[in-house]
Amino acid sequence: MDTLRPPEGMHVAVMTGGGDCPGLNAVIRGAVKVGVRKHGFSMLGIEDAFSGLINPNYRSPHGNINLTGAVVREILPRGGTILGTSNHSDPFRYVVERDGVEVETDISDRVMENFHALGLDGLISIGGDGSMRIAKRFMDLGMPVVGVPKTIDNDLAATDVTFGFDTAVQTATDALDRIRDTAESHDRVMLVEVMGRDAGFIALHAGLAGGAHAILLPEIPYDVAPLVRRIEDRRLRGQPYSVIVVAEGAKPRGGAESVIAEKLGEMPRLAGAAQRVTLALEDHIALDMRVTVLGHIQRGGTPSSFDRVLATRFGHHAAELVAMGDFGKMVALRAGEIIAVPIEEAANRPRRVELDDEILLTARAMGVVFGDEES
Ligand code: F6P
Repeated sequence: MDTLRPPEGMHVAVMTGGGDCPGLNAVIRGAVKVGVRKHGFSMLGIEDAFSGLINPNYRSPHGNINLTGAVVREILPRGGTILGTSNHSDPFRYVVERDGVEVETDISDRVMENFHALGLDGLISIGGDGSMRIAKRFMDLGMPVVGVPKTIDNDLAATDVTFGFDTAVQTATDALDRIRDTAESHDRVMLVEVMGRDAGFIALHAGLAGGAHAILLPEIPYDVAPLVRRIEDRRLRGQPYSVIVVAEGAKPRGGAESVIAEKLGEMPRLAGAAQRVTLALEDHIALDMRVTVLGHIQRGGTPSSFDRVLATRFGHHAAELVAMGDFGKMVALRAGEIIAVPIEEAANRPRRVELDDEILLTARAMGVVFGDEES
C-alpha cells in the first residue's frame, strides 16, 4: 500500500459503509475525479467501511487502495462498491471475543490514531443513517468528515431521495411484471416481499409501478379481511389471480415485525413477512399462493441513469465540501439542488411513508388495498 502524500494537496480518505447499493462506485468516481483533477487531493480508499482504519493492514481482499483516475476509470456502471463495505465495523461498538464471549467495545481511539498516522486530512463517508451517526461521533472527536447519503430504502428525511432507490424500485418492478404473468397463468395469489426495513418506499413505488393489487407497508399495520375481500372480488369478477407486495417490515395490526436473527453489533435481520401473510390468508381463500422474496437482488446490478447522475453529483459536491474545509456536512438533494446539511440531520431524521403521501393516495385511488380500514 502506497499512502505517501504529495507535497501539497489534501490527503482524503473515502469509505463506503453499511449495506451496499447501486451507485456507490459512481460516487467514488465523482469524488475522485473532482478531488484529484481539480483540487490535487491524494485519495485513499478505505476497505470494508472502518475495517481499514481499525487496522490499516486489513486485507479482504486487497486492503486500502490509492484512488487514482485510473482506478475509477471503468466503475461508473458497476454495482457494489470497489472499496467493499461492512455493517459490523462500528468502532464505537466493535465486537471482540473475551473469555470465549462476544462483547462490544469502543476502539474509536485506535481509529483516530490510525487516521492521523496515515496523514489524512479528511474523510468522505458514504453510508446510511448508521454510518452518519458514526461519522458524527468521529467529528466530535476531531475527525473532519463529509457525509454522502446512500440506501436503497430511501428512508433519510435529510435528502429528497437517496441514490440506489430508483434502481431497486426498477428491479422490484421488473420482478412484479414477471410474477404477474405466472400469477395469471396459474390463477394464483403471488406475494412478493421487498426490502426497505421500517420504510415502505420500495414497496409503495414498485407496487404502484407494477400494478399490484395490494401493498403492505411497515407504516400501515394490516388486517387480512381487506386483502381477502380484494382477492375474492377479483376472483368473482373473473380475475382469479392477485399480486401482493409485502414490505419486509410489514406487520399485522397488533403484531410485531418479523425479526429472525439478532447478532451483537449488527442490525436485526427481517424475514418472513410475506410468508406470515400467507399463513393468515390460507383459511380464507381457495386460491393457491406462492411467495417470492426478492432480497439482495434489489441491492445489486448496474445503477439506473437517475442513480448514476445523482451519485456523481453527490461525489462531486462531497469533494467540493472537503476542498472548502466545510466538514460535518452531508450532501443532500433538495428540490432538485445539491445542498449541504449537518451530518446529524441524516443520523437523527428517518423518513417514513406518510399516510397523506400523494403516491400512497394515488395507489388507493387505483383500488390498491393496504390492509387497513380505508381499503
Ligand atoms: O438498508 C438496506 C437493506 O437492504 C434493507 O432494506 C434490508 O433490511 C437490509 O439492508 C439487509 O441487510 P443485510 O445485507 O445485512 O442482510
